[in-house]
Amino acid sequence: MKKPKPIVRIAATGRYLPDNVVTNDDLAKVMDTSDEWISSRTGIRERRIAPDGEGAAAMGAGAAMDAMKKAGVEPGEVDILILSTATPDRWLPSTACDAQALLGCSNAVAFDVMAACSGFLYGVSMAEGYLAAGRGEVALVVSTEKMSSIVDWDDRGTCVLFGDGAGAAVVRPANGQDRGLLSSHLRSDGNLGNLLYRPAGGAAIPMDEGVLERKDHLVRMHGRDVFKNAVRSMAEAADHALQQAGITADDVDLMVPHQANIRIIEATAKYAGIPMEKVFVNLDRYGNMSSASVPVALDEAEEQGLIGPGSTVLTAAFGGGLTWGAMAFRW
Ligand code: UT7
Repeated sequence: MKKPKPIVRIAATGRYLPDNVVTNDDLAKVMDTSDEWISSRTGIRERRIAPDGEGAAAMGAGAAMDAMKKAGVEPGEVDILILSTATPDRWLPSTACDAQALLGCSNAVAFDVMAACSGFLYGVSMAEGYLAAGRGEVALVVSTEKMSSIVDWDDRGTCVLFGDGAGAAVVRPANGQDRGLLSSHLRSDGNLGNLLYRPAGGAAIPMDEGVLERKDHLVRMHGRDVFKNAVRSMAEAADHALQQAGITADDVDLMVPHQANIRIIEATAKYAGIPMEKVFVNLDRYGNMSSASVPVALDEAEEQGLIGPGSTVLTAAFGGGLTWGAMAFRW
C-alpha cells in the first residue's frame, strides 16, 4: 500500500493541570468508596480538581500558552483556534472565544467542538482540513475540561472517574516532510447518546428548579455499556488508522490512548496487538479528563523522551455521543 504523505504535523503540545490533587483516600472521607475499589476497577489513584473561578477557558489558555511557547508561535500568528470541551464555561459565547480573548489570538477564527472525550482527535482533524484548504498556517487545538463541574458528586459510580485539566497542540502544515499526521479514522453514533449524557439544562429541557432538584443537568452514565463499546470501537478505529497509514502494530513506538480506565486501555491494546510496555498511561494521576487526556498524555510522553522526532505514535479515543476515533502520526 502506498504510504500517505502527511498534510499537517503537530509542531508542539502543551498542558495545564490545576494544582489541587484529590486522592482516592480523600474521596473515601466524603463518600462511600475506597482506594481499593477505585484503583482496582479503574487504575485511577488521584485526580486534579480546579477551584471555583478557574474554568475551561482559563485552563485551556494555560495549555495553549505552553504549546505556543514550545512551537515558537506568537498569539497573533494563530489562524484558527479549535477548542474541544464538554464543560463550556457558559453557553454563549463559545469557550473558544473566551480563550481567544485570554490568549490575545485576535487574528484567529475561534469556535468550540463538542465531541466529548474524542474532541482532541476531532479538533486535529478539523485543523488538518482547514490548513489543507490553504486558509492558514497555524492552527491551535485546545482541549479543556472541568469535569468536576458537571459530575454528580452523589453518584459514586461516576464522579470518582473524572478529573480536570487541559492539553493543547499547535498544528502546522507538514510542508512536504514525512513527519506528521499519517491517518485519521473518526466515527460517531448518535443512537447511543443516552449511554453517557446530561439529561437536561439545554434548549430542549431548559434549566429550572425541577431539573436542579432531579440533578438532570449532571452527567449520567451506563458504565458497563460504555465500557463494552469503548473497547470495541477504539480497537476497530486503531486497526483502521494503522491500515490507512500503511503500517502495522509492530511499527508503533507508543500508543497514547484516551485515559478512561486501565482495563479499557489494556483490552484495546491487546486487541490492537500492542504490548503494554508501548502504551502510555497517566490516568493513575489524573483520572479521565475527557478530551484533554490525549494531548496531556502526548505532552508528557514527549517530555519523558518516550516519543521524539520520527517516532510512530498511535492515538485512540472514545466518549459520549458516542464518538470515537484513532490517528497515527510520525512524530
Ligand atoms: O470516557 C469514557 C467515560 N466512561 C468510562 O470510561 C466508563 C466505562 N465504564 C467503567 O469504567 C466501569 O463500568 C466502571 C468503573 C464505571 C464501573 O465498574 P463495574 O465493574 O462495571 O462496576 P459496576 O458499575 O457494575 O458496580 C459494581 C459494584 C456495585 O455494587 P453492587 O451493586 O455490586 O453491590 C456498585 O454499587 O460496585 C459499586 N460501586 C462502587 N463501590 C465503591 C460503584 N461505584 C463505586 C465506588 N466505590 N466508587
